[in-house]
Amino acid sequence: MVVPAVHSSSPDIKIDARRLYRIFGSTRAVNDVSFEVGAGQVYGFIGPNGAGKTTTMRILSTLDLPDYGDALVDGFSVINDPDRVRRRLGFMPDGFGTYPNMTCIEYLDFFARAYGIIGRERMRTLRFTLAYTGLDKIAEKPVRSLSKGMRQRLCLGRAMIHNPTVLILDEPANGLDPRARIELRNMLRGLAQQGKALLVSSHILTELGEMCDAIGIIEQGKLIVTGTVTEIRRQLQPQVTVRVHLLGRGEELAAWLQRRGEPIHAVSASAENVEFKLSGDDPQARHQLLQQMIEERFPVVDFSAQRSTLEDVFMHLTTGAVQ
Ligand SMILES: Nc1ncnc2c1ncn2[C@@H]1O[C@H](COP(=O)(O)OP(=O)(O)O)[C@@H](O)[C@H]1O
Ligand SMILES: [Mg+2]
Repeated sequence: MVVPAVHSSSPDIKIDARRLYRIFGSTRAVNDVSFEVGAGQVYGFIGPNGAGKTTTMRILSTLDLPDYGDALVDGFSVINDPDRVRRRLGFMPDGFGTYPNMTCIEYLDFFARAYGIIGRERMRTLRFTLAYTGLDKIAEKPVRSLSKGMRQRLCLGRAMIHNPTVLILDEPANGLDPRARIELRNMLRGLAQQGKALLVSSHILTELGEMCDAIGIIEQGKLIVTGTVTEIRRQLQPQVTVRVHLLGRGEELAAWLQRRGEPIHAVSASAENVEFKLSGDDPQARHQLLQQMIEERFPVVDFSAQRSTLEDVFMHLTTGAVQ
């Protein structure tokens, strides 16, 4: 296929994937994928196993070539300028190899040297990386004695040792306990605050939680949605879940709500709790509904509304298909 000519994008766009395709036999592993990640942004790349996340990330990291399309990393083409791309990019693959007999500092030092960081600059870089990843206290410990979370920090340290503008992390939270995951999230947010662009994949949406500024949902090689978290929420028909706690007459309230129909649906109740969904996100409509409940003398104690979470959006958008 002919590679389309690409022109450099705005300097704030650090990853600019343009119509990427990668085909293995009859599998379209990456099927027309385009998205952008800006400086200071964390972009969550979310999709089930086999969706095409790793293949896309390998192309962006210059480890594989697209069959069609191109991508610019910090303004440089992964096809025409792979060397420049590599200098500006840190990639943490799914399951980075570590050398069990090296200590943390030896491991990082090895990669700092590989990047040609020398002399005082190397010492400064090592100190900074160990401190940033919270490994300074265990710098002299052998890699084999590290917990999964600590090892993941070390791998992140390795990916950031040459101070790249762009970081691509393939399933970094995989297998981490909740605490290690929160620590990872804080480290990644910190790197974004320094102005780096981060592309982070996961097959579990909640794993990335609310750390992302933007997300792309990929399924069977196709990016089915991409945009900032706010844009994606807005694109969807918004829905709020309302919970009402009352002193009694819950079933009666449920029947009253069901009779009203749209925009009320999915009503469920017990004697003291009623839950239902409201299409649209209209505070005025909620206010009127509450007022009418009070007028009908339902003994309401609490009335709370919750907007759809990112997870609801994910369930709504994806079919769960795998290839
Ligand atoms: N080198 C390869 N040869 C053949 N098929 C591949 C190769 N790499 C990936 N695939 C296929 O491409 C699809 C996407 O894989 P991958 O990018 O690893 O998905 P993910 O990382 O989202 O789990 C899968 O169907 C996988 O089997
Ligand atoms: Mg993968």
